[in-house]
Amino acid sequence: MICEVDNTAIDVKGLVKSFGAQKVLGKIDLKVRRGEFLTLVGPSGCGKSTLLRLIAGLETASEGDISIAGHDVTKAPPKQRDVAMVFQNYALYPHLTVAQNMSVPLRMRRLGRLQRLPLIGSLMPQASEKLADIKAEVEAAARSLAIDHLLARKPAQLSGGQRQRVALGRAIVRKPQVFLLDEPLSNLDAQLRVHMRSELVQLHRRLGVTLIYVTHDQAEAMTMSSRIAVMFAGQILQVGTPDAVYDNPDHLKVAQFISNPGLNTLPLALILGGPRGRLIDDGLGTIAASGSELTVGFRPEACAPAASAAVSDLSGRVLLCERFGAEAFIHVLLHGAPAPVIVRVEPSQASALLPDDVIHIQIDPAKLFVFGKDGMRVRVQRRAAA
Ligand SMILES: Nc1ncnc2c1ncn2[C@@H]1O[C@H](COP(=O)(O)OP(=O)(O)OP(=O)(O)O)[C@@H](O)[C@H]1O
Ligand SMILES: [Mg+2]
Repeated sequence: MICEVDNTAIDVKGLVKSFGAQKVLGKIDLKVRRGEFLTLVGPSGCGKSTLLRLIAGLETASEGDISIAGHDVTKAPPKQRDVAMVFQNYALYPHLTVAQNMSVPLRMRRLGRLQRLPLIGSLMPQASEKLADIKAEVEAAARSLAIDHLLARKPAQLSGGQRQRVALGRAIVRKPQVFLLDEPLSNLDAQLRVHMRSELVQLHRRLGVTLIYVTHDQAEAMTMSSRIAVMFAGQILQVGTPDAVYDNPDHLKVAQFISNPGLNTLPLALILGGPRGRLIDDGLGTIAASGSELTVGFRPEACAPAASAAVSDLSGRVLLCERFGAEAFIHVLLHGAPAPVIVRVEPSQASALLPDDVIHIQIDPAKLFVFGKDGMRVRVQRRAAA
């Protein structure tokens, strides 16, 4: 008999959270695998921090269950969950130095009550060896976060980003089974953020812990995670690898959120009225009958200027050309469309275009999604490429 090894680290089942009459999480189901880097991503207010706080035990569930490492912890206090959480608004002790802040969890765990006393504590039996170990571990964590030169400072003498790294360091030294990080990079400048992203990924690999990471930055979610869970209004709409969610969104909101600079949407009827019906031949015609209020979505990189009107799907007028060095985007108001679409082009193509130029657009049918009125994806049976 094949015995499947259960590698679930965190199992959230039917989790509901209400604050008074307001339901902020509705029936969340989520399995996080052991050692996984799972990112919760979604717009502000969708419930990411609340879900994390419930897993940490800082909020109580209104309904549902949470298990960590196979143990039901739904009613367990935070201490019994072996999780470390770094908050959005990290709380450091203002009167302690960075080194002292980082050593707090280790001192609490390893030193006895008398050993923790100021001054005389270090004279207690075995205290000096334990303190030396703690010091070495704090220094190692500080080095990995590039804050070892700040160990003697107090939090008030640090920048926001440095404080955030101290909070991260304090969580790392605990070596918990599960790490819960709530937007730990939100106060860093763009360059340090990118650096810390790769640092965190490597740190996760080194520590081998299960990590849930919260962000509303889709680039962070896409680049760091083994899987992402996309949340909206207290619901998880989709869970999958970054590529799977990107290439195959289940919901209009997911496609809109995981898209840079944004998802183009058009009424299906507009596409069907296009010049050549190429997309209709490719399968869209078959679903047109199923409802007139379908929406078509495609990303800026899924469309391109067409060589001529003869091979174009749609045409319109250039509103704006944006160049960002290596890439460029043009904003085009298609005939009959309610809002402009964004098309990614080569910078040289953008240079050759002027506002008000008429342009023909081609859309890659393989990268075109259809959504119903409720936002759910409508799957299109595409014809095999000829
Ligand atoms: N203690 C509370 N009492 C009442 N409502 C709350 C409480 N905490 C959170 N909420 C509400 O729950 C919803 C989800 O909040 P949460 O902090 O989980 O969002 P979030 O996804 O983390 O947002 P952000 O990206 O802005 O941090 C919000 O509408 C918020 O106002
Ligand atoms: Mg939050």
